[in-house]
Amino acid sequence: MTSKNMQDIFDIGLVPLISLNDANDAVPLARALVKGGIPVAEVTFRTAAGLDSIKKMAAEVPDIIVGAGTVHDVEHAKQAVAAGAKFIVTPGFNLPVVKWCLDNNIDIIPGTASPADIEAALSLGFNVCKFFPAEAYGGVKTLKALSGPFAGIKFMPTGGVNEENMLEYLTLPNVAAIGGSFMAPSSLIKEKAWDKIAQTCQHIFGKMLG
Ligand code: 3PG
Repeated sequence: MTSKNMQDIFDIGLVPLISLNDANDAVPLARALVKGGIPVAEVTFRTAAGLDSIKKMAAEVPDIIVGAGTVHDVEHAKQAVAAGAKFIVTPGFNLPVVKWCLDNNIDIIPGTASPADIEAALSLGFNVCKFFPAEAYGGVKTLKALSGPFAGIKFMPTGGVNEENMLEYLTLPNVAAIGGSFMAPSSLIKEKAWDKIAQTCQHIFGKMLG
C-alpha cells in the first residue's frame, strides 16, 4: 500500500537530494524548498551533518516531507527514523535495510539498477523503486526497456538527472518521480543563497508543469 507521504511525494514528482556539511543550513534550506513548491528532501548520510539536518528539518519545518538517503545499514535507518525521517532511500537494493523498513512499517524507496534488483523488489511487494545511477545505467532508454517485463513497477530515476533532461524522464509512464541534486545545487547551498534555491525550485516545478 502506498502511504500518504509517498503519495504526496509522487504527486509532487520531484525529490531534491540534499547533502549538507553544516546542519545549521538545514532549516533555511528546507524553508526554501517549501517556498519553491517542492516540499520534499532526501537528506543523505554522506556527510556527518546528515542526521542532525534531518532532525532539524523534521522538528522545525513541519511542511516538508523529510527522508534519509544513502542509507547503507539498519543502524542509520533507525537513527534517521528516530530523528523524524518519514522515508528511507537506499542507493542499491539493500536487503537488511529493506527488510527492517518493511518490518517496522517505514516507507522506503529501494535502489535498483538491474532486472535482478527489480525482481527482488517485486518479490517483496514493491511497486516503486529508485533507479540509480540513472544516466550511467542507460537513462530513458533503459527505463523504456524495463517497462515491458516490469509493467507494475515505477521508478524514481536519480543520478545524472538534471534540468535539461528532466522532462524526458517525467514523461515516461513508469516514472513516479525524479530525484537529484540539481534542485538545490551545492554551489547555492555553499553561498547560503536560500532565495535563489527557492527560485530554482519554482523554475523547475514550473517547467515540470509545462
Ligand atoms: C544520488 O545519490 O541519488 C545521486 O548521487 C544524485 O546524483 P546527482 O547529483 O547527479 O543528482
